[in-house]
Amino acid sequence: MNYQEILNQGSKILKLNDIKSYNLDSELLLSSTLKINRPQILLQLNNKIKNREKEIFLNLIKRRKRSEPIAYIIGFKEFWKEKFKVNRSVLIPRPETEILVERVLDELRVNSKKKILDIGTGSGCIILSILKERKGCHGIGVDISKNAIKLAKYNAKIQHIKNRIKFFNTDIDNFCSDKYDLIISNPPYIVRNTINGLDKDVRDHEPRIALDGGLDGYTKIKLVIKKSSNLIKKNGKLFLEIGFDQAKETLKILNMYGFYNNKIVKDLAKKNRCIISTKI
Ligand SMILES: C[S@@+](CC[C@H](N)C(=O)[O-])C[C@H]1O[C@@H](n2cnc3c(N)ncnc32)[C@H](O)[C@@H]1O
Repeated sequence: MNYQEILNQGSKILKLNDIKSYNLDSELLLSSTLKINRPQILLQLNNKIKNREKEIFLNLIKRRKRSEPIAYIIGFKEFWKEKFKVNRSVLIPRPETEILVERVLDELRVNSKKKILDIGTGSGCIILSILKERKGCHGIGVDISKNAIKLAKYNAKIQHIKNRIKFFNTDIDNFCSDKYDLIISNPPYIVRNTINGLDKDVRDHEPRIALDGGLDGYTKIKLVIKKSSNLIKKNGKLFLEIGFDQAKETLKILNMYGFYNNKIVKDLAKKNRCIISTKI
C-alpha cells in the first residue's frame, strides 16, 4: 500500500464518522506517523508504507474518529510563532487568543522591562509568546492545575525562556505575591450548563476546569478581576479574554474594582473578544 492509498483509507474512516476535516486530518496524522511534514508526503504519494507505520497511523485514525482533537493526538499546537506541547491537562491554544498577545505586544516597547502575570496559564502559550518577543520582560504564570504547570514549564524549557519565567501551581484566589505592570488572563468563561452543547472535540476531551465559568459564566472572570485589582500596579493594564456576549457585564465588574479606560477588541469574526483596562 502506498501513501496515497493509506491517506484515502484514513479519510474514508474519518468521513464515515462525521469528522468534517477528514482529508486534512488524515494528512496530519500520516505526517505525524512518518515524522515528515505534509508537503513532503504530498510529493511522495507513491512511496510504500511499512506495516508498522500503517498500524501506528490506523491507531491515530481510531483516536481521531472518536473526536479526540488532532492537537492532543499529535501532541502539539502552533500558537503565535511557536509550537506548544499540549496534552489533555490543558486547553488547546486558540487562534483568537493570539489577539491578546498582539495587543500586549502593541503596549510594550521592544526594550521594555515589565513584570507580567498570566492568570490561568495552561500550556503557557500567552506568557511565553510575549516573553519570547520582549527579552527585557519577566513573567509569572499561575494555574490551578498541577499538570498544566508541568507542561507550561516544559514549554518554557524547549523555548529557552526558563530564566525569565516562574510558574506556580495554585488557585489564583490564594496567590498574593508582588505587584505587576501587566496582568493577562484567558479565564474559563463558558456557562456551565452549555458545556454539554459544545462540539464533541471540546466537550469530551478538553479539561472542564479550563472551560467552566460557573453557573452564569462569570465566576472566574470576577475572580480574576477581583484578584487583579490587588495584584496590579497603579496605572497597570489588565488584558482579559471574554466570550463574545460578555463585554457589557464584564465592564460593570471592571468598574466595580477600579478599572477604567476600557477598550473592547473584536476578533476576525467581528465579535467582542477581549477587554483592555487600566487600574486607576
Ligand atoms: C481557558 S484556559 C486558558 C489556558 C491558556 N491561558 C490559553 O489561553 O490557552 C483557563 C485556565 O485557567 C485555569 N484555572 C481555572 N481556574 C483557576 C483558578 N481558580 N486559579 C488559577 N487557574 C485557574 C485552568 O486550569 C486553565 O488552564
